[in-house]
Amino acid sequence: MKSTRLYTSESFFIEGGNPLRGKVQVSGSKNASLPILVASLLTKEENLVENVPDLLDTHTALELLGSLGVQVEFQDHRVRLQARELSSYRAPDAMVRRMRASVLVMGPLLARFGRAVVSMPGGCSIGVRSIDQHLRVFEKGGASIRIKHGYMDMEVKRIKPVEYTFEVITVTGTENALMFLSGCEKRSILRNIALEPEVLDLVEVLRKMGVEIHIEDRTAVVRGSRELRGFHHRVIPDRIEAGTFMVAGFITGGDVELQGVRVEHLGAVMDKLREAGAQVDVLSLDRLRVRSKGEIWPLSISTAEYPGFPTDMQAQFTVLCCLARGQSEIKENIFENRFQHVAELQRMGADIHVRDRLAIVRGVEKLYGAEVYSTDLRASASLVLAGLVAEGTTVVRDIHHLDRGYERLEEKLRALGATIERLPPEGS
Ligand code: EPZ
Repeated sequence: MKSTRLYTSESFFIEGGNPLRGKVQVSGSKNASLPILVASLLTKEENLVENVPDLLDTHTALELLGSLGVQVEFQDHRVRLQARELSSYRAPDAMVRRMRASVLVMGPLLARFGRAVVSMPGGCSIGVRSIDQHLRVFEKGGASIRIKHGYMDMEVKRIKPVEYTFEVITVTGTENALMFLSGCEKRSILRNIALEPEVLDLVEVLRKMGVEIHIEDRTAVVRGSRELRGFHHRVIPDRIEAGTFMVAGFITGGDVELQGVRVEHLGAVMDKLREAGAQVDVLSLDRLRVRSKGEIWPLSISTAEYPGFPTDMQAQFTVLCCLARGQSEIKENIFENRFQHVAELQRMGADIHVRDRLAIVRGVEKLYGAEVYSTDLRASASLVLAGLVAEGTTVVRDIHHLDRGYERLEEKLRALGATIERLPPEGS
């Protein structure tokens, strides 16, 4: 299948139709690793983080921390970090554009050094993704923030205790606020916080460092310290990678056992898969098995903050609904533009109609292989899933989006029986 333009990025070549069977080990969580690696800025002592996934985004985070002066060593999913002193408090535009989670350095830089100059993240393909809530907490804590030449220039002498109710539930906003307030010895109160497992994994780390954090419902009481200890932590498994493999095993008519998961983090995903007709068996706290029973039933999905149905699983379930026996409704409540996978799935024969944040999906007999283009991390995962079940060959372009959040995906899928290989950039 010749594309009309020279490809500078890699692609996946997939032959659809193989049921996935076997066992797969899930990697550590990308969205827990990122704030936890950044938390190393809060202490002069050495830190050890285990089960860190080998992803583009984790390498980007380590490159950013290195540029700030943190000593970093990444070996076999273990990262040693030490921020003895800082050589910079600046997160450059190129870095933030590459990974918007770079904004997570703001809180710890202000807490440790009282200074941070970070490029405004700008929009991204799935939505505006403003960070007004992050900045509101810093201002309440006494930070001055000047926006100039696209950078946020922030300074705080001594962090004041904060009492704040988030206007929206924000994952990295909560993480930034907790790390910022780790530098304040007085008691702060944050209300309407995010409770994603990744946020709570960071809370575990901050507690190990000596931060007092008490959480009740969506309220956190935080008391930090000027001298925080180093930490040793094993990152939780990636519940979104796990969910992606669960959908893959089900829609290909297969039988897949996932190992190294946290079953308790997968409640909403297991419920929806069972509703769609999957056999989901919990084998232990960290193992579960997903099997097809031959039918795929339509669903009504509405994304929500944890423990609701995760927005990061919406694109993957859209593919499931494309093959269901009937009509499904998918409501995306978290981001305003997270249906970019739809146009690509329509090229494969999907019958989907999107209006605002609602997608109506009418099940079709089958999808057909095509050349499709990744736009963002989870959209690209959905295109791989579609390729696995489509009749014929699918080429998924620009898989650097995918490599941000899935470690060795093609190897793991091949081990389960998929016909998939990574194509080099064309003309290379
Ligand atoms: C985190 O992004 C995740 N990224 C995202 O995963 C995930 O989709 C998202 O949370 C929702 O669960 C990381 O953890 C690195 P938010 P984040 O702040 O923190 C609005 C993936 O695929 N908002 O919870 O940026 C915002 O616009 C990525 O791994 C404000 O209005 O998301 C969005 O509509 C994609 N003001 C909503 O809240 C703010 O100050 C939720 O955003 C902050 C957020």
